[in-house]
Amino acid sequence: MKALEIRNKYLNFFKKHGHKIIPSAPLIPENDPSVLFTTAGMQPLVPYLLGEKHPEGTRITDYQKCLRTNDIDEVGDNRHLTYFEMLGNWSLGDYFKEEAVSMSFEFLTKELGIPVEKLSVTCFAGDEDAPRDEKTAECWKKAGIPENGIYYYGKDDNWWIAGEEGPCGPDTEMFYDTGKPACSSNCQPSCNCGKYVEIWNNVFMEYYKTKDGKYEKLKQHNVDTGLGLERMTMLLQGKETPFDTEIFAPIMGKLEELSKVDNIESRRIVAEHLRASMMIISDGGRPSNIDRGYVLRKLIRRMSRHLNKLQIDLSELGNLIDLNIDILKEMYPELEKNKEIIKQIIIDEKDKFMKTLAHGEKEFEKAINKAKQENKNIIDGQTIFKLYETYGFPPEITADLAREKGFEIDNTEFEKLFKDHQEKSRMGSEQKFKGGLAEQNEKTIKYHTATHLLHKALQIVLGEHAKQKGSNITDERLRFDFSHPEKMTKEELQQVEDIVNEQIKRDLEVKCEEKTLEEAKKSGAMGLFENKYGEKVKVYTIGDFSKEICGGPHVKHTGELGHFKIKKEESSSAGVRRIKAILEN
Ligand code: ALA
Repeated sequence: MKALEIRNKYLNFFKKHGHKIIPSAPLIPENDPSVLFTTAGMQPLVPYLLGEKHPEGTRITDYQKCLRTNDIDEVGDNRHLTYFEMLGNWSLGDYFKEEAVSMSFEFLTKELGIPVEKLSVTCFAGDEDAPRDEKTAECWKKAGIPENGIYYYGKDDNWWIAGEEGPCGPDTEMFYDTGKPACSSNCQPSCNCGKYVEIWNNVFMEYYKTKDGKYEKLKQHNVDTGLGLERMTMLLQGKETPFDTEIFAPIMGKLEELSKVDNIESRRIVAEHLRASMMIISDGGRPSNIDRGYVLRKLIRRMSRHLNKLQIDLSELGNLIDLNIDILKEMYPELEKNKEIIKQIIIDEKDKFMKTLAHGEKEFEKAINKAKQENKNIIDGQTIFKLYETYGFPPEITADLAREKGFEIDNTEFEKLFKDHQEKSRMGSEQKFKGGLAEQNEKTIKYHTATHLLHKALQIVLGEHAKQKGSNITDERLRFDFSHPEKMTKEELQQVEDIVNEQIKRDLEVKCEEKTLEEAKKSGAMGLFENKYGEKVKVYTIGDFSKEICGGPHVKHTGELGHFKIKKEESSSAGVRRIKAILEN
């Protein structure tokens, strides 16, 4: 079965069971400053897991584009991917354990035809925060999993939360037995010898973990599930790695044909990073030196470096992108639509990297001369690290070049610096997560409403072209990106500020209505209409001032907002301006 067929089977199966199919949210989260990329299907649904009403009802299913960067340095082995697709179904205060388990079982055994003998499941063993999940084990037994195929584990294995704070709960995971021999008499699903592969996770999300580590019961019990499409495709096709499935096989084959050096790891890195970069760019990501732009830059650089390593002419990159779009366009039609910009950005970034590499080589020469002067035949770790960090110069290349000149490199010192650096960037990305995926407090809700006022005020002052391009809200400020070709004048900024503050003074009522997308469009609601919404949407109206499609939540009256003040107006990218603003009491 091909990946697309599995995706369609999944969505249709859950549709048959009363779920509404919603489109994938973009890979780059909107209104969520806590994460760089969407990393799970539940992420765009957090407000609804916390009790906000979803316009499509209480049963939702989708496929979600996800990117996880924690393991970026592992890509190249037989399983790690940065970009992947997560299939999911959600109960928002609707069904719970019994129905979730029975649907999962039916889907795996009937729709995908996996024999029961190949399946085992795990349940939460219980601790001081939540009881042992015997109910779920019972449901599995009733569905048809034998007692000896059910395992219990603690929080490390059977509890799911995105980051440190937010909605969470015990989960039950399903495992597929690959048929490989057991690594020991105690080999079980929790073992990572490769015999058992996790294929699906059902989270029973009825808790909220607070900032200070307490578990509180949520208003409603939810089910959040995630099934990794690439992995399932690989298993059903009896392949060893996702790179052997139709998602990657043609590009892997092309790379093999073009390369002069046989290196499967490099081929996998190129294929994986190329797909991930294309997906990010297609969803609006652009290379830069910070945050998500840096991740994209890193992906393109690593890919270019490994193309080099394979001795593939870098002028082939355009053809490789064309080929990848052909492979993936049925699954992601947006790639075809954004073909030109994808090509332009990747090729541009590759060219920049090549220049950087040239600079690095000069820097390397200097290091060699310095070592010679000091009568040393070793290049110190600091220099190797600097070459890596500043010039993107891979240590293995530094080592090769050094060897050619009769020099050693101090790998131990480099490794230490590299580890510290990795630790820091990992902490950085966790920190981002920690900020609270579910950070939905009084302040952020106020900023959210202020964002709607700002959007409308900008359109009044600058014209209708001033459309939202991005939004990012924290406890302390809002940040709003919008299309506008030039720097705003002082007068324009003052006008915008005044208009927003006037609406706050008028204490307008904020109302929410559910409409079909067509009705919403007809009513003149602002929104991004391309591929973004399901059939039904929520429209938030602020008095007679603004009408916008949005998931919410918002304040009830604008009078709650306080005083609106613009702190900064700057360029965000070509043709896009950025405003940072605060609310004062
Ligand atoms: N949110 C759960 C996961 O990512 C389903 O595994």
